[in-house]
Amino acid sequence: MTRISAERAKALALRRYEATAVPWASDRAEPRLDFYSPFGPMIAKTQIAPELVARLNRYADPQVTPGVSREFHVPQAAVVDGGTQSLQAVTEAAIARYVNGVYGAPPEQVRVETFWIVSQVAGSASPMHHHSSDISGVLYLKVPEIADPAEEEKTYISNRRAGFINFMIGGRQEFSRSLISFKPVVGDFYVFPGWLLHGVEPFDGQGERRSLAFNAYVETQR
Ligand SMILES: [Fe+2]
Repeated sequence: MTRISAERAKALALRRYEATAVPWASDRAEPRLDFYSPFGPMIAKTQIAPELVARLNRYADPQVTPGVSREFHVPQAAVVDGGTQSLQAVTEAAIARYVNGVYGAPPEQVRVETFWIVSQVAGSASPMHHHSSDISGVLYLKVPEIADPAEEEKTYISNRRAGFINFMIGGRQEFSRSLISFKPVVGDFYVFPGWLLHGVEPFDGQGERRSLAFNAYVETQR
């Protein structure tokens, strides 16, 4: 990767923690009232090609016993399978875009340490946790069928939603947000700081909730 000039590096170092002054929402009654929500960790979401999702599922299917929750590592052969469209290549590209989007400069180096698959059935949870890595992410490979629509509306303590991925930061503070929940959708791929707390509450439904997670380290330009 090309080195940037010392001047540019200094400008980036000063600006990497500065938010963009773009309103998050507006109350359009006159005079208009704009809301800014500039602080906090960045979560990025993209989509992964169905071919890669299918390839990962072909690897994972024989590892899974119906009705049993388990976790297993993705071996190197499956990580690099597919060349430029491999899990490794696609993940590194998404991480580079994430760092570039957040810091305004691409990383000098990206190293994905581990990929693993989490296969969950009804009733299983992933308690709130963070990772040891700089950057983590999750890709949905399968989602369960939730028979009762009320189940999706079911919430746990602090309004965490069943079967969704819940990201949390800090505690409750007035006029500040500390929780976001995303519904898992096959092919959706999230990238976020490894330190950001996240977890999944148990769902009640048929089938498997299958997600792939990773831990990555980055060298950034300073
Ligand atoms: Fe996690």
